[in-house]
Amino acid sequence: MAAHATTAERAYRIGSIPGDGIGPEVQAEGLKVLAASAALDGFRYTLKSYPFGGEHYLRTGELVTPAVVDEWRGLDAVLLGAIGHPDVEPGLVERNVILSLRFGMGMYVNLRPVKLLAEHLCPLKGKSPHDIDFVVIRENTEDVYSQIGGHLNIGTPDEVAIVTGVYTRKGTERIIRYAFELARARAGRRAANGHRPRLTMVDKANAIRPQSLWTRVFEAVAAEYPDVETDHAYVDACCMWMIKTPEQFDVIVTTNLFGDIVTDLAAMLQGGMGIAASGNINPGHTSMFEPIHGSAPKYAGQNMANPLGAIAAVGMMLDYLGEPTSAARIERAMEQCLVDGRIPSIDARSGLSTTQIGDLITAEIHALAAHAAAPARA
Ligand code: IPM
Ligand code: MG
Repeated sequence: MAAHATTAERAYRIGSIPGDGIGPEVQAEGLKVLAASAALDGFRYTLKSYPFGGEHYLRTGELVTPAVVDEWRGLDAVLLGAIGHPDVEPGLVERNVILSLRFGMGMYVNLRPVKLLAEHLCPLKGKSPHDIDFVVIRENTEDVYSQIGGHLNIGTPDEVAIVTGVYTRKGTERIIRYAFELARARAGRRAANGHRPRLTMVDKANAIRPQSLWTRVFEAVAAEYPDVETDHAYVDACCMWMIKTPEQFDVIVTTNLFGDIVTDLAAMLQGGMGIAASGNINPGHTSMFEPIHGSAPKYAGQNMANPLGAIAAVGMMLDYLGEPTSAARIERAMEQCLVDGRIPSIDARSGLSTTQIGDLITAEIHALAAHAAAPARA
Protein backbone atom coordinates (compact mmCIF):
# COMPACT_ATOMS: atom_id res chain seq x y z
CA MET A 1 0.00 0.00 0.00
CA ALA A 2 1.26 3.49 -0.75
CA ALA A 3 2.99 4.72 2.34
CA HIS A 4 2.16 8.15 3.54
CA ALA A 5 5.15 10.01 4.87
CA THR A 6 4.87 9.03 8.53
CA THR A 7 5.38 12.04 10.73
CA ALA A 8 8.26 11.37 13.09
CA GLU A 9 6.14 12.35 16.09
CA ARG A 10 3.20 10.17 14.98
CA ALA A 11 0.72 13.04 15.27
CA TYR A 12 -1.93 13.24 12.58
CA ARG A 13 -4.20 16.07 11.51
CA ILE A 14 -7.54 14.54 10.62
CA GLY A 15 -10.57 16.29 9.15
CA SER A 16 -13.96 14.70 9.66
CA ILE A 17 -17.09 15.21 7.59
CA PRO A 18 -19.92 13.35 9.35
CA GLY A 19 -22.38 14.36 6.59
CA ASP A 20 -25.99 13.27 6.24
CA GLY A 21 -28.40 10.55 7.32
CA ILE A 22 -26.64 7.75 9.18
CA GLY A 23 -23.23 9.40 8.50
CA PRO A 24 -22.81 11.10 11.90
CA GLU A 25 -23.91 7.97 13.82
CA VAL A 26 -21.62 5.53 12.03
CA GLN A 27 -18.73 7.98 12.08
CA ALA A 28 -19.02 8.40 15.86
CA GLU A 29 -18.34 4.65 16.21
CA GLY A 30 -15.36 4.92 13.84
CA LEU A 31 -13.98 7.71 16.03
CA LYS A 32 -14.39 5.53 19.14
CA VAL A 33 -12.19 2.93 17.51
CA LEU A 34 -9.70 5.62 16.47
CA ALA A 35 -9.43 6.87 20.06
CA ALA A 36 -8.92 3.32 21.41
CA SER A 37 -6.21 2.63 18.80
CA ALA A 38 -4.36 5.86 19.61
CA ALA A 39 -4.36 5.04 23.33
CA LEU A 40 -3.10 1.50 22.73
CA ASP A 41 -0.46 2.25 20.09
CA GLY A 42 0.75 5.63 21.28
CA PHE A 43 -0.01 7.97 18.39
CA ARG A 44 -1.75 11.33 18.67
CA TYR A 45 -4.21 13.13 16.44
CA THR A 46 -6.24 16.29 16.15
CA LEU A 47 -9.72 16.22 14.74
CA LYS A 48 -11.48 19.07 12.98
CA SER A 49 -15.08 18.55 11.97
CA TYR A 50 -16.65 20.10 8.85
CA PRO A 51 -20.43 20.39 8.49
CA PHE A 52 -20.79 19.90 4.71
CA GLY A 53 -23.54 17.80 3.18
CA GLY A 54 -27.20 18.02 2.20
CA GLU A 55 -28.50 18.88 5.65
CA HIS A 56 -26.07 21.79 5.98
CA TYR A 57 -26.78 22.96 2.43
CA LEU A 58 -30.54 23.09 3.06
CA ARG A 59 -29.99 25.03 6.27
CA THR A 60 -27.32 27.49 5.12
CA GLY A 61 -26.97 27.25 1.32
CA GLU A 62 -23.28 26.65 1.91
CA LEU A 63 -21.23 24.27 -0.27
CA VAL A 64 -17.58 23.25 -0.33
CA THR A 65 -15.55 26.05 -1.97
CA PRO A 66 -12.00 26.01 -3.39
CA ALA A 67 -10.86 27.80 -0.20
CA VAL A 68 -12.12 24.88 1.90
CA VAL A 69 -10.34 22.42 -0.38
CA ASP A 70 -7.15 24.47 0.14
CA GLU A 71 -7.56 24.17 3.89
CA TRP A 72 -7.99 20.38 3.58
CA ARG A 73 -4.64 20.20 1.82
CA GLY A 74 -3.02 20.92 5.18
CA LEU A 75 -4.50 17.75 6.71
CA ASP A 76 -3.05 14.26 6.72
CA ALA A 77 -6.39 12.59 6.11
CA VAL A 78 -10.11 13.21 5.88
CA LEU A 79 -12.78 10.83 7.22
CA LEU A 80 -16.18 10.96 5.57
CA GLY A 81 -19.41 9.60 7.07
CA ALA A 82 -22.02 9.67 4.29
CA ILE A 83 -23.31 12.34 1.93
CA GLY A 84 -26.74 12.65 0.28
CA HIS A 85 -30.12 14.11 1.22
CA PRO A 86 -33.53 13.25 -0.28
CA ASP A 87 -34.63 16.93 -0.39
CA VAL A 88 -31.63 18.13 -2.38
CA GLU A 89 -31.37 17.81 -6.18
CA PRO A 90 -29.97 14.30 -6.88
CA GLY A 91 -26.19 14.19 -6.77
CA LEU A 92 -25.62 17.88 -6.01
CA VAL A 93 -24.01 17.51 -2.59
CA GLU A 94 -22.42 14.17 -3.46
CA ARG A 95 -20.62 15.84 -6.38
CA ASN A 96 -19.83 18.94 -4.33
CA VAL A 97 -18.31 17.14 -1.35
CA ILE A 98 -17.04 13.78 -2.63
CA LEU A 99 -15.94 14.86 -6.08
CA SER A 100 -14.39 18.12 -4.74
CA LEU A 101 -12.21 15.94 -2.55
CA ARG A 102 -11.38 13.35 -5.22
CA PHE A 103 -10.81 15.69 -8.15
CA GLY A 104 -9.82 18.88 -6.31
CA MET A 105 -7.20 17.12 -4.22
CA GLY A 106 -5.84 14.76 -6.86
CA MET A 107 -6.93 11.58 -5.06
CA TYR A 108 -6.42 9.51 -8.17
CA VAL A 109 -6.61 6.09 -6.50
CA ASN A 110 -9.85 4.66 -5.19
CA LEU A 111 -8.75 1.64 -3.21
CA ARG A 112 -11.55 -0.81 -2.38
CA PRO A 113 -10.56 -3.99 -0.53
CA VAL A 114 -12.99 -6.90 -0.91
CA LYS A 115 -12.42 -9.39 1.89
CA LEU A 116 -14.88 -11.88 3.31
CA LEU A 117 -14.31 -11.91 7.06
CA ALA A 118 -16.85 -14.61 8.01
CA GLU A 119 -18.14 -17.33 5.71
CA HIS A 120 -21.82 -16.97 6.66
CA LEU A 121 -21.88 -13.37 5.34
CA CYS A 122 -21.28 -14.46 1.74
CA PRO A 123 -24.37 -14.93 -0.44
CA LEU A 124 -22.53 -17.36 -2.76
CA LYS A 125 -22.74 -21.09 -2.10
CA GLY A 126 -19.52 -22.84 -1.13
CA LYS A 127 -17.24 -19.79 -0.96
CA SER A 128 -15.07 -19.18 2.07
CA PRO A 129 -12.89 -16.30 3.27
CA HIS A 130 -10.05 -18.00 1.42
CA ASP A 131 -11.89 -17.45 -1.89
CA ILE A 132 -12.86 -13.82 -1.48
CA ASP A 133 -9.86 -11.65 -0.80
CA PHE A 134 -9.04 -9.14 -3.50
CA VAL A 135 -8.67 -5.40 -4.03
CA VAL A 136 -10.26 -3.20 -6.67
CA ILE A 137 -8.21 -0.19 -7.76
CA ARG A 138 -10.65 2.24 -9.30
CA GLU A 139 -9.29 5.22 -11.26
CA ASN A 140 -10.74 8.21 -9.39
CA THR A 141 -10.23 11.43 -11.39
CA GLU A 142 -11.20 10.82 -15.03
CA ASP A 143 -13.78 9.04 -17.23
CA VAL A 144 -17.41 10.22 -17.42
CA TYR A 145 -17.01 11.63 -13.90
CA SER A 146 -15.10 14.61 -15.38
CA GLN A 147 -18.40 16.55 -15.69
CA ILE A 148 -17.73 17.42 -19.34
CA GLY A 149 -21.02 17.54 -21.19
CA GLY A 150 -24.46 19.05 -20.96
CA HIS A 151 -27.92 19.35 -22.40
CA LEU A 152 -29.33 21.07 -25.46
CA ASN A 153 -33.03 21.91 -25.72
CA ILE A 154 -33.50 20.59 -22.21
CA GLY A 155 -36.98 19.26 -21.42
CA THR A 156 -38.16 19.39 -25.07
CA PRO A 157 -38.70 16.50 -27.52
CA ASP A 158 -35.49 17.68 -29.25
CA GLU A 159 -33.37 17.32 -26.15
CA VAL A 160 -29.79 16.19 -26.63
CA ALA A 161 -27.60 15.03 -23.72
CA ILE A 162 -23.88 14.70 -24.27
CA VAL A 163 -21.24 13.32 -21.91
CA THR A 164 -17.56 12.92 -22.61
CA GLY A 165 -15.32 10.29 -21.05
CA VAL A 166 -11.78 11.48 -20.42
CA TYR A 167 -8.85 9.04 -20.36
CA THR A 168 -5.37 10.53 -20.35
CA ARG A 169 -2.18 8.56 -20.87
CA LYS A 170 -0.74 10.09 -17.70
CA GLY A 171 -3.86 9.28 -15.64
CA THR A 172 -4.09 5.75 -17.04
CA GLU A 173 -0.43 4.99 -16.55
CA ARG A 174 -0.23 6.20 -12.94
CA ILE A 175 -3.22 4.13 -11.79
CA ILE A 176 -2.01 1.01 -13.59
CA ARG A 177 1.45 1.46 -12.09
CA TYR A 178 -0.08 1.87 -8.61
CA ALA A 179 -1.99 -1.40 -9.14
CA PHE A 180 1.15 -3.30 -10.16
CA GLU A 181 2.98 -1.98 -7.09
CA LEU A 182 0.07 -3.00 -4.85
CA ALA A 183 -0.04 -6.50 -6.38
CA ARG A 184 3.67 -6.83 -5.59
CA ALA A 185 3.26 -5.53 -2.03
CA ARG A 186 0.35 -7.90 -1.32
CA ALA A 187 2.37 -10.85 -2.56
CA GLY A 188 5.34 -9.76 -0.44
CA ARG A 189 3.18 -9.78 2.68
CA ARG A 190 1.90 -13.29 1.96
CA ALA A 191 4.95 -14.89 0.38
CA ALA A 192 4.90 -17.52 3.13
CA ASN A 193 1.53 -18.79 1.83
CA GLY A 194 2.91 -19.17 -1.68
CA HIS A 195 0.81 -16.22 -2.83
CA ARG A 196 1.69 -15.03 -6.35
CA PRO A 197 0.77 -11.52 -7.49
CA ARG A 198 -1.89 -11.30 -10.15
CA LEU A 199 -3.38 -8.17 -11.72
CA THR A 200 -6.54 -8.11 -13.83
CA MET A 201 -7.25 -5.05 -15.97
CA VAL A 202 -10.92 -4.42 -16.66
CA ASP A 203 -12.15 -2.23 -19.54
CA LYS A 204 -14.68 -2.32 -22.37
CA ALA A 205 -12.30 -1.61 -25.23
CA ASN A 206 -14.19 -3.90 -27.60
CA ALA A 207 -17.21 -1.56 -27.66
CA ILE A 208 -15.59 1.71 -26.52
CA ARG A 209 -12.52 1.87 -28.76
CA PRO A 210 -10.84 4.88 -27.10
CA GLN A 211 -10.43 2.64 -24.05
CA SER A 212 -7.77 0.78 -26.02
CA LEU A 213 -5.52 3.40 -24.40
CA TRP A 214 -5.96 1.34 -21.21
CA THR A 215 -5.19 -1.93 -23.00
CA ARG A 216 -2.02 -0.51 -24.57
CA VAL A 217 -0.73 1.22 -21.44
CA PHE A 218 -1.41 -1.93 -19.40
CA GLU A 219 0.69 -4.03 -21.79
CA ALA A 220 3.54 -1.52 -21.76
CA VAL A 221 3.67 -1.20 -17.95
CA ALA A 222 3.31 -5.00 -17.50
CA ALA A 223 6.66 -5.46 -19.23
CA GLU A 224 8.28 -3.77 -16.21
CA TYR A 225 6.64 -6.23 -13.78
CA PRO A 226 7.50 -9.72 -15.09
CA ASP A 227 6.84 -11.17 -11.60
CA VAL A 228 3.17 -10.12 -11.71
CA GLU A 229 0.84 -12.41 -13.62
CA THR A 230 -1.57 -10.35 -15.75
CA ASP A 231 -5.06 -10.92 -17.05
CA HIS A 232 -7.66 -8.87 -18.89
CA ALA A 233 -11.46 -8.94 -18.71
CA TYR A 234 -14.17 -6.83 -20.28
CA VAL A 235 -16.33 -5.35 -17.57
CA ASP A 236 -19.40 -7.49 -18.36
CA ALA A 237 -17.33 -10.67 -18.12
CA CYS A 238 -15.67 -9.37 -14.95
CA CYS A 239 -19.11 -9.21 -13.26
CA MET A 240 -19.77 -12.78 -14.32
CA TRP A 241 -16.40 -14.06 -13.02
CA MET A 242 -16.85 -12.21 -9.72
CA ILE A 243 -19.88 -14.38 -8.99
CA LYS A 244 -18.63 -17.58 -10.61
CA THR A 245 -15.00 -17.75 -9.47
CA PRO A 246 -14.15 -14.77 -7.22
CA GLU A 247 -11.04 -16.69 -6.09
CA GLN A 248 -9.37 -15.87 -9.41
CA PHE A 249 -8.99 -12.20 -8.43
CA ASP A 250 -6.09 -10.68 -6.52
CA VAL A 251 -5.88 -7.06 -7.68
CA ILE A 252 -8.23 -5.52 -10.27
CA VAL A 253 -7.54 -2.17 -11.93
CA THR A 254 -10.29 -0.38 -13.83
CA THR A 255 -11.82 2.90 -14.96
CA ASN A 256 -13.81 5.23 -12.72
CA LEU A 257 -17.35 4.25 -13.79
CA PHE A 258 -16.68 0.52 -14.09
CA GLY A 259 -14.94 0.64 -10.71
CA ASP A 260 -18.02 2.29 -9.19
CA ILE A 261 -20.26 -0.46 -10.53
CA VAL A 262 -18.13 -3.54 -9.85
CA THR A 263 -17.38 -2.47 -6.27
CA ASP A 264 -21.08 -2.50 -5.31
CA LEU A 265 -21.24 -6.02 -6.70
CA ALA A 266 -18.02 -6.92 -4.91
CA ALA A 267 -19.30 -5.45 -1.62
CA MET A 268 -22.09 -8.03 -1.65
CA LEU A 269 -19.50 -10.83 -1.80
CA GLN A 270 -18.10 -9.64 1.53
CA GLY A 271 -21.52 -9.40 3.11
CA GLY A 272 -23.05 -6.15 1.90
CA MET A 273 -22.64 -2.41 1.67
CA GLY A 274 -22.63 -2.19 5.47
CA ILE A 275 -19.07 -3.48 5.76
CA ALA A 276 -17.23 -2.13 2.70
CA ALA A 277 -14.83 0.79 2.98
CA SER A 278 -12.66 2.69 0.56
CA GLY A 279 -9.64 4.94 0.45
CA ASN A 280 -9.39 7.90 -1.93
CA ILE A 281 -5.65 8.23 -2.15
CA ASN A 282 -3.24 10.77 -3.49
CA PRO A 283 -0.05 8.89 -2.65
CA GLY A 284 2.06 10.87 -0.20
CA HIS A 285 -0.62 13.56 0.23
CA THR A 286 -3.93 14.17 1.99
CA SER A 287 -6.19 11.20 1.40
CA MET A 288 -9.83 10.54 2.24
CA PHE A 289 -11.43 7.41 3.73
CA GLU A 290 -15.11 6.51 3.70
CA PRO A 291 -17.57 3.65 4.00
CA ILE A 292 -18.91 2.92 0.50
CA HIS A 293 -22.56 2.96 1.60
CA GLY A 294 -24.75 6.04 1.28
CA SER A 295 -26.60 8.14 3.84
CA ALA A 296 -29.57 5.69 4.18
CA PRO A 297 -32.05 8.40 5.29
CA LYS A 298 -34.67 5.86 6.38
CA TYR A 299 -32.38 4.57 9.15
CA ALA A 300 -31.08 8.01 10.22
CA GLY A 301 -31.27 8.97 13.87
CA GLN A 302 -32.45 5.54 15.03
CA ASN A 303 -29.17 4.09 16.29
CA MET A 304 -29.81 1.16 13.91
CA ALA A 305 -27.27 1.43 11.11
CA ASN A 306 -24.27 -0.86 11.10
CA PRO A 307 -21.07 1.15 11.62
CA LEU A 308 -18.63 -1.52 10.38
CA GLY A 309 -18.02 0.28 7.06
CA ALA A 310 -17.06 3.47 8.92
CA ILE A 311 -14.90 1.45 11.34
CA ALA A 312 -13.17 -0.30 8.42
CA ALA A 313 -12.55 3.16 6.89
CA VAL A 314 -10.72 4.18 10.08
CA GLY A 315 -8.62 1.00 9.75
CA MET A 316 -7.72 1.87 6.16
CA MET A 317 -6.82 5.42 7.18
CA LEU A 318 -4.50 4.19 9.93
CA ASP A 319 -2.80 1.79 7.54
CA TYR A 320 -2.22 4.68 5.15
CA LEU A 321 -0.93 6.99 7.89
CA GLY A 322 1.65 4.42 8.92
CA GLU A 323 -0.08 2.66 11.84
CA PRO A 324 -0.29 -0.92 10.51
CA THR A 325 -0.55 -2.48 13.99
CA SER A 326 -3.72 -0.51 14.72
CA ALA A 327 -5.10 -1.24 11.25
CA ALA A 328 -4.54 -4.99 11.51
CA ARG A 329 -6.05 -5.09 15.01
CA ILE A 330 -9.21 -3.31 13.83
CA GLU A 331 -9.69 -5.84 11.04
CA ARG A 332 -9.03 -8.74 13.38
CA ALA A 333 -11.56 -7.39 15.90
CA MET A 334 -14.22 -7.14 13.18
CA GLU A 335 -13.40 -10.65 12.03
CA GLN A 336 -13.57 -12.12 15.55
CA CYS A 337 -16.93 -10.51 16.39
CA LEU A 338 -18.43 -11.64 13.07
CA VAL A 339 -17.06 -15.18 13.19
CA ASP A 340 -18.13 -15.92 16.77
CA GLY A 341 -21.57 -14.36 16.24
CA ARG A 342 -21.31 -11.49 18.71
CA ILE A 343 -22.25 -9.43 15.64
CA PRO A 344 -24.66 -11.86 13.94
CA SER A 345 -25.31 -9.94 10.71
CA ILE A 346 -24.38 -6.68 9.06
CA ASP A 347 -27.76 -5.36 8.04
CA ALA A 348 -29.78 -2.91 10.10
CA ARG A 349 -31.69 -5.83 11.63
CA SER A 350 -28.79 -7.47 13.45
CA GLY A 351 -30.54 -6.93 16.78
CA LEU A 352 -27.67 -4.66 17.80
CA SER A 353 -27.64 -0.89 17.81
CA THR A 354 -25.03 1.26 16.08
CA THR A 355 -23.43 2.14 19.42
CA GLN A 356 -23.49 -1.48 20.66
CA ILE A 357 -21.56 -2.60 17.59
CA GLY A 358 -19.00 0.19 18.09
CA ASP A 359 -18.64 -0.84 21.75
CA LEU A 360 -18.21 -4.53 20.87
CA ILE A 361 -15.43 -3.75 18.39
CA THR A 362 -13.73 -1.38 20.83
CA ALA A 363 -13.85 -4.01 23.61
CA GLU A 364 -12.42 -6.63 21.24
CA ILE A 365 -9.61 -4.25 20.27
CA HIS A 366 -8.67 -3.90 23.93
CA ALA A 367 -8.89 -7.68 24.44
CA LEU A 368 -6.65 -8.36 21.44
CA ALA A 369 -4.10 -5.80 22.63
CA ALA A 370 -4.09 -7.28 26.15
CA HIS A 371 -3.63 -10.76 24.71
CA ALA A 372 -0.73 -9.63 22.51
CA ALA A 373 0.94 -7.95 25.50
CA ALA A 374 0.62 -10.98 27.80
CA PRO A 375 3.90 -12.90 28.19
CA ALA A 376 3.83 -16.17 26.24
CA ARG A 377 3.57 -19.24 28.48
CA ALA A 378 6.39 -21.74 28.28
C1 IPM B 1 -19.17 5.82 -4.63
C2 IPM B 1 -20.44 6.58 -4.86
C3 IPM B 1 -20.13 7.89 -5.59
C4 IPM B 1 -19.51 7.55 -6.92
C5 IPM B 1 -21.32 8.86 -5.77
C6 IPM B 1 -22.01 9.17 -4.45
C7 IPM B 1 -20.92 10.14 -6.47
O1 IPM B 1 -21.35 5.79 -5.57
O2 IPM B 1 -18.28 6.34 -3.93
O3 IPM B 1 -19.04 4.70 -5.13
O4 IPM B 1 -20.20 7.35 -7.92
O5 IPM B 1 -18.28 7.46 -6.99
MG1 MG C 1 -20.68 3.80 -5.88
